[in-house]
Amino acid sequence: MRVHVADHPLITHKLTVLRNKNTSSPTFRALTEELVTLLAYEATRGVRTQPVEIETPVTRTTGLEISTPRPLVVPILRAGLGMLDGMVKLLPTAEVGFLGMVRDEETLQPMTYAERLPDDLSNRQCFVLDPMLATGGSLGAAIQFLIKRGAVDVTAVCILGAPEGLERLERETEGLDVTIVLGALDERLDENGYIVPGLGDAGDRLYGLV
Ligand code: URA
Repeated sequence: MRVHVADHPLITHKLTVLRNKNTSSPTFRALTEELVTLLAYEATRGVRTQPVEIETPVTRTTGLEISTPRPLVVPILRAGLGMLDGMVKLLPTAEVGFLGMVRDEETLQPMTYAERLPDDLSNRQCFVLDPMLATGGSLGAAIQFLIKRGAVDVTAVCILGAPEGLERLERETEGLDVTIVLGALDERLDENGYIVPGLGDAGDRLYGLV
């Protein structure tokens, strides 16, 4: 597993506003979109391309275009939806699938409650969107779900991560081609599973308490 923690003053500035508990939902949503576009630039560094012949006004030349099958962007419901616009702004030709993950209160294991994805992901590059990498339970399950369907490599884009979640993902994705791109790696999880210092509940901050 490769981990890339963004290191850029614009990202840190936007993250600081997101962390502030006085930031309103509309500002939070707008900044999330901007931040994800910056993270998407990092996350797509390894996007697969194929050569293409084109004609400029001056001559013929060979360039590169994003390969087919097209990359698949998968926001994890609900909070991952707030990251979708920022991601597809940079990758407009990607297809978009959806995964809803929830914790089974009996087994405490993450389970899928909603899924809208191609049946066969063979040879697909997937970009998973989940703002908070906390325990890593749902993100790990989502990555394994995509790989079982045939995805060749998976990049997860997260706004914040905790060391506990990264360690769990490292164990659960051993031997798989997985990259994690984070806006920042925070200190730890608190006793309620919140990232510290964090930004609170990302879904609630994006969409309000429902
Ligand atoms: N999910 C959130 O939305 N926030 C956290 O801090 C941890 C998990």
